[in-house]
Amino acid sequence: MTVLWSRADLEAATSGRFPSSGDVVIAGTGVSIDTRTLQPGDVFIALKGENSNGHAHVATALAADAAAVVAHEPCGDDPRILMVGDTLAAMQGMARFARARFTGRMLAVTGSVGKTSVKDMLKAALNACGPTHGAVASYNNHWGVPLTLARLPATAAYCVCEIGMNHAGEIAPLAAMVRPDVAVVTTVAASHLGLMGSIDAIAHEKAELLLALPAGGTAVIPAGITGHDHFERNAGQKGATLWRVGTTPDCAARAHDVAQDAHGSTFSLTLPDWQGVARVNAPGRHMADNAMLALAAADAAGADMNLAVAGLATFRPGAGRGAIAKVMHDNVALLDESYNASPASVRAALDLLGLVATGRRIAVLGDMLELGAFARHEHASLLPAVRANADAVFCCGPNMKILFDSLPPALRGAWTPDSTTLAPLVRAALRAGDTVMVKGSLGSRMRHVVAALREDDARVGPA
Ligand SMILES: Nc1ncnc2c1ncn2[C@@H]1O[C@H](COP(=O)(O)OP(=O)(O)OP(=O)(O)O)[C@@H](O)[C@H]1O
Ligand SMILES: [Mg+2]
Repeated sequence: MTVLWSRADLEAATSGRFPSSGDVVIAGTGVSIDTRTLQPGDVFIALKGENSNGHAHVATALAADAAAVVAHEPCGDDPRILMVGDTLAAMQGMARFARARFTGRMLAVTGSVGKTSVKDMLKAALNACGPTHGAVASYNNHWGVPLTLARLPATAAYCVCEIGMNHAGEIAPLAAMVRPDVAVVTTVAASHLGLMGSIDAIAHEKAELLLALPAGGTAVIPAGITGHDHFERNAGQKGATLWRVGTTPDCAARAHDVAQDAHGSTFSLTLPDWQGVARVNAPGRHMADNAMLALAAADAAGADMNLAVAGLATFRPGAGRGAIAKVMHDNVALLDESYNASPASVRAALDLLGLVATGRRIAVLGDMLELGAFARHEHASLLPAVRANADAVFCCGPNMKILFDSLPPALRGAWTPDSTTLAPLVRAALRAGDTVMVKGSLGSRMRHVVAALREDDARVGPA
């Protein structure tokens, strides 16, 4: 296995010191912040959070053959312990060090929804072109981004980072750490609107990513993005090229002949350096849009697009993000969107329900959180999308009560205060041939409904 972190590099990156030099060889082959998933050879960073302290697990890490431990509280005198001033700052130092020695192409994805989808599509596409490193899951915050970079092998050809935010000022420092060659903004929509105050403030914040581009870098955005001017201005300020992805002739990346089916979409794409037909095996127009952005970004990163298009076809929607399974003894199709929800993603999921269902269309909706004063309006305004795509609607949570009460009586399934009490009602209402879509913010715990529907299926596979 390739050595990622030597003694000298760790000391240089963190400004820390090992107790003695020479006798113990430090050869870190990975980076871990959690001993439950630590692999032998990992450098363990003892992060200290509000509710957890990695220093309590240093002995476990050492016993599990960690190559080194980065710590800032006294935790013994093992020669593998590197003492630093602050472990989070040390991890950020490792991130900057790893970024500086990386000679491949760096891509960063931000946006209100679709970051992980586009990031994973890019990983699938680029991996077919050369060794590709990328963020795990949604590692997109003050620890997820530096952890991703600290794990970046110097020899990778591509790296794909996800950058998120839920309050102003978060993007700029992460973007400066990542220093992308290609910056992708998926969407600007009402997520975290409660903390951000306005859609324009969200666009302004997302556009900060473009200020980390070098001159000659590329920003990739949907042509119809809200707050377009912010992106145009920031790309211009940095001397970066702005690629707009859309369907009109003025777009640098132009999609045409988009054909959707229940398993995905096929579309023609004209990029600055490539033209052809591509397929994404995740249903819904939003996934097709994400795929177009990912392919445009791959082209901007100089990838061999024939290989990238073939790689993209291996992408599948993740758990809770549109994966479809047969449940209740294969009688009901479950569209599991339970991972998270914002107004844009609930609309996309309702459209998806309308697209994939063959029998009755059942929508199960939990509260969208973090919308602050906009909550009432955003929940109420789901009505047209619900009417267009569902035959029966089950809701839980105080905000979804607003939507539920506005439904025509024929569409009303049931409303309860929480997902635990709603689950059995949904289950009892389902009939063979139904398609049920479950969605809500993480905090609305819609996974309880999914679990209840999966209850008696010993083996659950893709539909
Ligand atoms: N372009 C899009 N427009 C609307 N909804 C989308 C889009 N892309 C993905 N979604 C939906 O939004 C939800 C979250 O998707 P994804 O995990 O890709 O987003 P994310 O931005 O990474 O979210 P998070 O902020 O939680 O990390 C899923 O339900 C997904 O189906
Ligand atoms: Mg994500």
